[in-house]
Amino acid sequence: MNHHHTPLFQTLKQFNNTSPTSFHVPGHKNGLLFPTYAREFFDSILKLDMTELPGLDDLHAPTEAIAEAENLAADFFQADHTFFLVGGSTAGNLAMILATCNGGDKVIVQRNSHKSVMNGLELSGARPVFIAPEYDREVDRYISPSQDTLRKALHEHPDAKAVVLTYPDYFGKTYAIKEMIDAVHAYHMPVLVDEAHGVHFSVGDSFPPSALDLGADVVVQSAHKMAPAMTMASFLHMKSRLLSKDRIAHYLQMIQSSSPSYPLMASLDIARAFLAIMKTEEIDNIIYSASMVREILQASDHWRILSTDDPLKITLHMKNGIAAKDIADLFEKQNIYPELVTHNQILFIHGLTPFRNFHKLKKAVQNVGDQLKNQDNRATIEITKLFTQDIQELTLDYQEMNQLNDKQFSFHEAIGHIAAEAVIPYPPGIPVILKGEKITGPHIEIIETLVERGVKIQQRDPGIRIYT
Ligand SMILES: Cc1ncc(COP(=O)(O)O)c(C=O)c1O
Repeated sequence: MNHHHTPLFQTLKQFNNTSPTSFHVPGHKNGLLFPTYAREFFDSILKLDMTELPGLDDLHAPTEAIAEAENLAADFFQADHTFFLVGGSTAGNLAMILATCNGGDKVIVQRNSHKSVMNGLELSGARPVFIAPEYDREVDRYISPSQDTLRKALHEHPDAKAVVLTYPDYFGKTYAIKEMIDAVHAYHMPVLVDEAHGVHFSVGDSFPPSALDLGADVVVQSAHKMAPAMTMASFLHMKSRLLSKDRIAHYLQMIQSSSPSYPLMASLDIARAFLAIMKTEEIDNIIYSASMVREILQASDHWRILSTDDPLKITLHMKNGIAAKDIADLFEKQNIYPELVTHNQILFIHGLTPFRNFHKLKKAVQNVGDQLKNQDNRATIEITKLFTQDIQELTLDYQEMNQLNDKQFSFHEAIGHIAAEAVIPYPPGIPVILKGEKITGPHIEIIETLVERGVKIQQRDPGIRIYT
């Protein structure tokens, strides 16, 4: 297939060249109606912001340019079928779970999954069997579940309908997922993988393999996180003898807008072409550039750089109990914005393009160091007690939860009660407490530590809602 070809983008461009007269939505009328102060920024994108006109196809029943663009993506990613997503990996995660599990079905799920996975479980009414991740002392955080935990869960719950895993983690850490996929397939269960952070894994051997190449049945990727695609533009790939493409399509048309954004979809077409035609020398230059950035960032006594499987992810791990948020603030004051800050780590993501501003970065690292000279050491904090059971089911199922009333409590009053809402530090968006989980003292200690260290928790009110 010709991966230089971008059928959806080309179709939109050609349509625009015919100077069409709009008696249809969207209301900006191909960009005619738009406030002048914003025109400069929106003009060119509004020209692509079309609707389902003749020849422009329909995301929910594609037969023309969108179908062609999805087929090219499937070819590049080596999927049997690829769906374009305009609602982020969030939409893909919801659809893959809804398409696989009915109310009351068991599903084995990695406990440190993104909230979209947890929301998919709740929407489907499935009964999750959570498998806890291992704590990795080297990178000082929870990573993936062990093979043994997965095998134990499969042995105890052979009637589960699917296994949901995350690969890689936010920081680019992978694991031996192939063995896990094989173990799950031995039970004739499908493996659904949230690969939100791995869209670039298919460009070659400089990166770890995609879970799709390792046998996963469904793989969801946020194209917008690492490829040149617009925010929310994502892929859902399928390669499965166990699952039906029609069920995924059915749930995607329920979850996603009936007016999906053409600029987003065109950016997926462009992102696929970009990844597919990358040359080895270009990739090598990028990897080299990332190694230079890593070298600059490691020039400090206040943190160390963690090892990673994805060479584009650079994680600073704080020493001497320094709050990562304080360091991130110092970088941000110099107009350098990392991706993610936890209580003790900062993630910098190198793009799929060589970095250009080494001088600015070097100076910023020096400035941060200078400002930290007189900083007192603080106690380092260990968050190793978060997932204490290797296999865990919720105390209440989602149907039972729906029948109950709930009330706002302070975190301390809530200990021993069942959470009526999740508590989610964001990013990374992995719940510390799950809806339906019994709240423990260590949960609250961890939340207080995170808040004290400046980590943002997604919450409407202080405290937590519990079931009464
Ligand atoms: C592991 C993981 N899965 C899914 C998502 C959701 O992705 P999106 O923002 O594309 O909806 C994220 C977002 O950060 C994530 O980190």
